[in-house]
Amino acid sequence: MHTNSMIFHILKEKFRNHNANLGVLGLGYVGLPLACEFAKVGFRVTGFEVDAAKVKSLLAGKSYIGDIESQEVRELVETKRLKATTDFAKLRGMDAIVVCVPTPLNKTKDPDVSYIDQAARKIARTLRRGQLIILESTTYPGTTRENVLPLLGSRGFRVGRDFFLAFSPERIDPGNKQYTLPNTPKVVGGDHSNMQRPGGHPVQPDRQAGRTRLERRSRRID
Ligand SMILES: NC(=O)c1ccc[n+]([C@@H]2O[C@H](COP(=O)([O-])OP(=O)(O)OC[C@H]3O[C@@H](n4cnc5c(N)ncnc54)[C@H](O)[C@@H]3O)[C@@H](O)[C@H]2O)c1
Repeated sequence: MHTNSMIFHILKEKFRNHNANLGVLGLGYVGLPLACEFAKVGFRVTGFEVDAAKVKSLLAGKSYIGDIESQEVRELVETKRLKATTDFAKLRGMDAIVVCVPTPLNKTKDPDVSYIDQAARKIARTLRRGQLIILESTTYPGTTRENVLPLLGSRGFRVGRDFFLAFSPERIDPGNKQYTLPNTPKVVGGDHSNMQRPGGHPVQPDRQAGRTRLERRSRRID
C-alpha cells in the first residue's frame, strides 16, 4: 500500500508531466472555459454534466459559451484532450476533480449550496485514494470544510492522508479581453501543506497583473 507521502508524490508527478486526468464537474460559464484551458495545456480532461444537451453539443464540437469558440471545442474533442459525459461513475478515473456547479442566491441572498452538496455526494460514491478535489463555485466561508469534507469523508477516507481537498475561487470574468483565465492568478486554499501544490500548475499566473486582483479576493479556505 502506498504511504501518504507516496500518494502525494505520485499525484505531483502526474501534474508535472501533464499526465493527470482532470475532471471538471459542471460545464457552464466557469467550468467549460476551465476545462478547455486545462486541455489546451496538455491535460486529458473530462467534463461531467447533468445536462445531457450540453454534453451532446460539446461532443458535436459546438460551444454554448460566448467566450469559447466552437472551433476550439471541436479541436480539443477531436484530439481526445476534452471529453464530456453524464456518466459520473467515470469520476473514479480522475486524478483531480474541480467542482464548478451553480450557487444561485436564495431568498435570504445566501448562496444555495445544494448543488455543491449533490456534487460532493457524487464524488464521494467513487472517491479513491490519491484524488484531489477542488471546490471552485462561489460560496460562503466554511462550505469546503463544513459541507464538502464530511460528505467526502463518509466512507472512511481521511483528508490529507487518503485524498486532498482545496478551495480555489473561480477566475472567470465573461467578456473581459484583458484578464482571461491564463493570465489571472489562481488562489488556492487547503488544509494540508501538501495540498496547495498539485493544483497550482495548469494555469500560469501573470503575477504583475494579478496582484491587484489578489488583494480583492479572499485567501482563506472556504
Ligand atoms: N459565470 C460567471 O461569470 C461567474 C462569476 C462569478 C462566480 N461564478 C460562480 O461560479 C459557479 C459556477 O457558475 P456558472 O456561471 O459556471 O454556472 P452555470 O449555471 O453556467 O454552470 C453550472 C453548470 O453546472 C451544471 N450542474 C449542476 N449541478 C450539477 C451536478 N451535480 N453535477 C454536474 N453538473 C452540474 C449545470 O447543468 C450547469 O451546466 C457559481 O458558484 C457561480 O456563482 C460565476
